[in-house]
Amino acid sequence: MRHLRIAARAPSNIALIKYMGKKDAPGNLPENPSLSMTLNDLCTWVEVEASDQAGSIRWISEAPRLSSAEPSWRVPRLGDSGLAKVLKHAEKVRALSPRPDRALILRSANTFPEASGIASSASSFAALTLAVAAACSTDPEKFKREWEDGFSLRRSVARISREGSGSSCRSFEGPWVRWEGEETRTVASKLPDLAHFVILISDQAKSVSSSQAHARVKTSPLWKDRPQRAAARLAQLEAALEAGDLPRVARLSWTESWEMHSLFHTCAEPFSYWQPGTIEALHWFAPRIEPNAVGTPPIVTLDAGPNLHVIVEAASAESWRKELQQRFGAQAILEDRPGLGARFEILRGQEVKQ
Ligand code: DP6
Repeated sequence: MRHLRIAARAPSNIALIKYMGKKDAPGNLPENPSLSMTLNDLCTWVEVEASDQAGSIRWISEAPRLSSAEPSWRVPRLGDSGLAKVLKHAEKVRALSPRPDRALILRSANTFPEASGIASSASSFAALTLAVAAACSTDPEKFKREWEDGFSLRRSVARISREGSGSSCRSFEGPWVRWEGEETRTVASKLPDLAHFVILISDQAKSVSSSQAHARVKTSPLWKDRPQRAAARLAQLEAALEAGDLPRVARLSWTESWEMHSLFHTCAEPFSYWQPGTIEALHWFAPRIEPNAVGTPPIVTLDAGPNLHVIVEAASAESWRKELQQRFGAQAILEDRPGLGARFEILRGQEVKQ
């Protein structure tokens, strides 16, 4: 029996224009276009061991066996429904491939701390989809060349990944990715080099999953016209990126983040992801982002969670690091930078860690 081993690595992404609200149809089709920055180091690794024989797909709760594996990597702890979702998605990817019945063994780990409050569904579904698609391709070497040479394969794999978790479809290229309907594409930017921080306000599990949030926002009186507002803001943001206008990107992102959380706060059964520390941090950033703020404003945005993502010019990262440490030192602060999206390796024997 011959085995093939693939390791895929997919980063998380942070949306500046949010995907919030799904069409009433299967496959995670969004109500509005969204735009995100692909990250680099905050990522998920998935190893797939594929056999020549037909068989089932199995998940082994251990880290991928890679020489580059680090002790800080965390194997995701999947409950029954989480595991069922992962296996169902892996089966879908395999069924769409040229090798629809290959036996597969999956292993996975995140590079970010467990329960860090960092959304892992984007990176984990992107890595899973790519690993299974590559392992079940007719010729993995050819698949790899196509992956590296252009966008067409990336975008078709992104479409399948979206069906597992919507935001994962933006983790296949970078650094700026726009997603509308079934399509993803990169967006040009003249912004300077950037650095990304996450201020970890809380690592508690979310009381409302983002899947539930997508449904509940539609009961807010603010929902009417939200898809149009998001699309209009996205067009402005895209123009600001293309013009390299960082202050404008920062102000549009700030407004968008408040708008998404306002949807949560005003739906029929209101809920909030904010913790006291989130509100304090929002108050601290507000005067630094207002139109009359002194200096270049940071891009500050929140996902469906309590943590703040802060994106600044790489050239001023050192002074921001000091300032954030001083002000938010009690919280853990993660760091990352923009990246180019998911990639994979075909593993050779020596990569097996004993
Ligand atoms: C707030 O992609 O997690 O992060 O499609 O149900 O898996 P599912 O939802 P998910 O939603 C992400 C929502 C968000 C905004 C964004 O990333 O655009």
